[in-house]
Amino acid sequence: MRAMKSIVILISGRGSNMEAIVRTARAEQWPVRIAAVISNRPDAAGLAFAAQHDIPVAVVPNKNYATREEFDSALKAEIDKFSPDLVVLAGFLRILTPAFVEYYAGRMLNIHPSLLPAFPGLATHRQALDAGVKVHGATVHFVTAHLDHGPIVAQAVVPILAGDTEEILAARVLEQEHLILPRAIRWFIEGKLSIENGCVHIAS
Ligand code: GAR
Repeated sequence: MRAMKSIVILISGRGSNMEAIVRTARAEQWPVRIAAVISNRPDAAGLAFAAQHDIPVAVVPNKNYATREEFDSALKAEIDKFSPDLVVLAGFLRILTPAFVEYYAGRMLNIHPSLLPAFPGLATHRQALDAGVKVHGATVHFVTAHLDHGPIVAQAVVPILAGDTEEILAARVLEQEHLILPRAIRWFIEGKLSIENGCVHIAS
């Protein structure tokens, strides 16, 4: 890893994935500055964790903007104050405009709680249980204008077991999210990721 890279993390709520990034970055001593944690919701619980860990926090309340375009342009202005090398959507539950996504192309990662391309959108654990699939999981991918699609960096698989509820399954998947998201970010900052024909290659 060469020069100090900087990361901006976007959250909407609990922020457990953001916490996993912060904890792993510190434990593994990444040469990375978590430049800011930004939420679209003022009440996002994760903001308190970030502030307690001396990470600058900001809120861009989507409620204050009449259109997606206006919100995205305010969000972009806030993010760019920190000149990040990478933007991470860590439980950021907003649909982003194509212009916003294009602007951060190749430098924005998202974590999604399913084995994409299966089960994009919301209620992924319910979708998996209803479909009767026997395995489920999580995906880290580069963000493209196609919601919950985009070149896949990392995936983790968990079994679906008899008696699973949405909550039990969500917890099993979340544990894996907390491993693969930091790992994918580390690969990015180490310059190991490249995208060819829509597929991610990871240098060894
Ligand atoms: C996580 O499970 C994340 O994968 C999901 O929201 C949760 C946020 O939890 N993201 C999506 O569904 C995006 N489509 P967290 O705030 O504790 O990280």
